[in-house]
Amino acid sequence: MDKNEEKQREEEREQVVSPWEVSSSGKIDYDKLIDKFGCQRLDQSLVDRVQRLTGRPPHVFLRRGVFFAHRDLNDILDAYEKGEKFYLYTGRGPSSEALHLGHLVPFMFTKYLQDAFKVPLVIQLTDDEKCMWKNLSVEESQRLARENAKDIIACGFDVTKTFIFSDFDYVGGAFYKNMVKVAKCVTYNKVVGIFGFTGEDHIGKVSFPPVQAVPSFPSSFPHLFSGKDHLRCLIPCAIDQDPYFRMTRDVAPRIGYHKPALIESSFFPALQGETGKMSASDPNSAIYVTDSAKAIKNKINKYAFSGGQESVELHRKLGANLEVDIPVKYLSFFLEDDAELEHIKKEYGAGGMLTGEVKQRLAQVLTELVERHQVARAAVTDEVTLLHAITETE
Ligand code: TRP
Repeated sequence: MDKNEEKQREEEREQVVSPWEVSSSGKIDYDKLIDKFGCQRLDQSLVDRVQRLTGRPPHVFLRRGVFFAHRDLNDILDAYEKGEKFYLYTGRGPSSEALHLGHLVPFMFTKYLQDAFKVPLVIQLTDDEKCMWKNLSVEESQRLARENAKDIIACGFDVTKTFIFSDFDYVGGAFYKNMVKVAKCVTYNKVVGIFGFTGEDHIGKVSFPPVQAVPSFPSSFPHLFSGKDHLRCLIPCAIDQDPYFRMTRDVAPRIGYHKPALIESSFFPALQGETGKMSASDPNSAIYVTDSAKAIKNKINKYAFSGGQESVELHRKLGANLEVDIPVKYLSFFLEDDAELEHIKKEYGAGGMLTGEVKQRLAQVLTELVERHQVARAAVTDEVTLLHAITETE
């Protein structure tokens, strides 16, 4: 192995991004990820184009680069400009009772896309996936899927245009036929190359990727898209899901379908900082939609990694290191007012504002968000969940 190769291997060990593992020894290098996965950077001209086509200001997550990569977004927009609609597809693996803020990111963004483009949406709950990967029972995975569905619906999707389904309930019929078509096109060597399965993995894992692939094809939903086999699909997701859709895009033309387009986000960092691993098992690493105002305040004050200096004197002199500061990072996701965010960054970065003040503002912003979510979730009854499950689109 020559020096360069060695260095590259070293770097690859330091940064792992797959659907079931995201870890790195430092900040995730998203440029490297774009290169490695072969997707495209979402640049300003595309953001401007979305604004022009939808006639509304781009979502915070778009204008601040949270959604930073894509595949074939231009093609979807070209078609849309010519009057051709598309549908949205996103999903969640129900592995926990309550969602945290990071889980909300793709759904908040998907709601914006649905409203802005006025298009139908399908949401897949992969209870089967979590049953196989997390060692949950079938019944427990299904229960989590139902609980999570309520939190997802609480994000405010248009009931008449949204279909939410669990794999255990829905897989069969036309959906299953597409799964078999996909499976026939993918060799064992290919999935090993894409997902890194080993001989020790059970065959449930090896056979799962077609389940996540086929919601990309309208013919998997005959009750929604009958006679619209050529409707295009756009998938908003975090970039760790890219391997599934690389496989899907590879197969699609071979079975006569459009490749789905993707719009991909970076990860929402843990309270402890961007180098720390976001741990689902550590309740103090994230703010949950079930947290009280008091819990939110405590977590932020106690755990949110600060880029501020050790003493007030030093802080006044040097200012905060915004690059590593979690309160500022969280505000850049959830504080909508651009002018206020700029003001905070400038003052805090110059030492005029202290960490405590920034944390206080963050606690306000997140408490408002979480309380709004809790009210919306309380209004989601079993009937509403059912309505989403049987919706029909025109
Ligand atoms: N595998 C995803 C998870 O574990 C769930 C998922 C299914 C998904 N289909 C999707 C996510 C489409 C984004 C887009 O969370």
